[in-house]
Amino acid sequence: MSILVTGGAGYIGSHTCVKLLETGYDIVVVDNLSNSNIKAIDRIKQLTGKDFPFYKYELCDEAQTEKIFKENDINCVIHFAGLKAVGESVEKPLEYYDNNIVSTLTLCKLMKKYDVKQIIFSSSATVYKPGSPMPVSETAELACTNPYGWTKYMIERILTDIAFAEKQWSVVLLRYFNPIGAHESGLIGEDPTGIPNNLVPYITQTALGRLEKLSVFGNDYDTHDGTGVRDYIHVQDLARGHVDAVRYAESNTGTTAINLGTGQGYSVLDIVNAFEKVNGVKVPYVIAPRRAGDVATVYANPTKAKEVLGWEAEKTLEDMCRDSWRWQKQNPKGYGTEE
Ligand code: NAD
Ligand code: UFG
Repeated sequence: MSILVTGGAGYIGSHTCVKLLETGYDIVVVDNLSNSNIKAIDRIKQLTGKDFPFYKYELCDEAQTEKIFKENDINCVIHFAGLKAVGESVEKPLEYYDNNIVSTLTLCKLMKKYDVKQIIFSSSATVYKPGSPMPVSETAELACTNPYGWTKYMIERILTDIAFAEKQWSVVLLRYFNPIGAHESGLIGEDPTGIPNNLVPYITQTALGRLEKLSVFGNDYDTHDGTGVRDYIHVQDLARGHVDAVRYAESNTGTTAINLGTGQGYSVLDIVNAFEKVNGVKVPYVIAPRRAGDVATVYANPTKAKEVLGWEAEKTLEDMCRDSWRWQKQNPKGYGTEE
């Protein structure tokens, strides 16, 4: 019996693959490598000393994807695969709806056909209606502001409806807050293509000198220092949350949505200051105008994760800053380093 990990060559997927293998699960990985590198797969194998089938397939292609179900005894799916850049989704909505929704529908049709009834889905805090009271709980109102977010919202709906109709299905919707950090080895980490959109990859590339300076998007928010506050969570804690979700899905049916966050908010300047202090490096920055679509503060109420999964975040902000920097220093060009 194996867990099918879609998008397993990506940032969160690769860390989760390592944790699953270390826990003793067998895995099968599918990724079209549209936003990742085959070296991540090699590094997962190197870190764990374990081998597993890897398919460089397009999930939206039903015939290709069916081969995976035919050739392996899958009993659970962790569905990371998807396009994830908020700004790009506004420019290319059709591409986002097509890729994220069609891949999920294809996967679900095949799960039904091959009698696979457990799925863990990568959702996001972005499904919560902007302006929701913080810390935000799973029962808060849902509404999105961009096509990327709506794909998460729609997939949550699709999976919930399937689990309602198919009473033996188990659907766990994991709503991640802001994943940062990397594996302690520095062998796997986040490797964005082009200029990073997200804060921490921008900081690490600035500290390295690849980028000149960080633009802090707004210092006039209603927060302790005026800069935006988010709930940053170490990718290793997040990966562990998926192992707990798999265990939960093994013995429960129905749908449950669970926040994976720390419950602690840090501002942009908190992150910059912690990063500089922990790593002894400088991160030059300027204050820039607010970024369209950003809100002042987002952080999780993580109590349901503790109650339902027995999971809580363990890593500190210092761990996150140290591990992000180790990965970036050891891999100045990401997985492209050795090319
Ligand atoms: P990532 O881009 O590193 O990983 C996603 C992987 O999916 C990539 O390797 C990509 O090549 C693959 N992929 C995309 N479309 C595919 C398709 N049609 N067929 C096969 N493979 C495909 O992203 P990540 O940061 O690891 O995020 C994983 C998941 O978590 C995504 O669904 C993302 O939306 C969600 N998420 C991420 C964050 C974040 O800040 N990183 C926050 C909330 C939710
Ligand atoms: N920020 C900067 N400068 C930058 C980049 C970011 O000041 O160059 C600030 C943002 O304004 C925000 C904070 O850093 O206050 C975090 O921004 P990120 O882009 O790293 O993360 P977001 O919270 O905007 O978005 C993340 C994921 C999305 C997801 C969302 C859900 O990237 O995919 O969380 O809450 F939808």
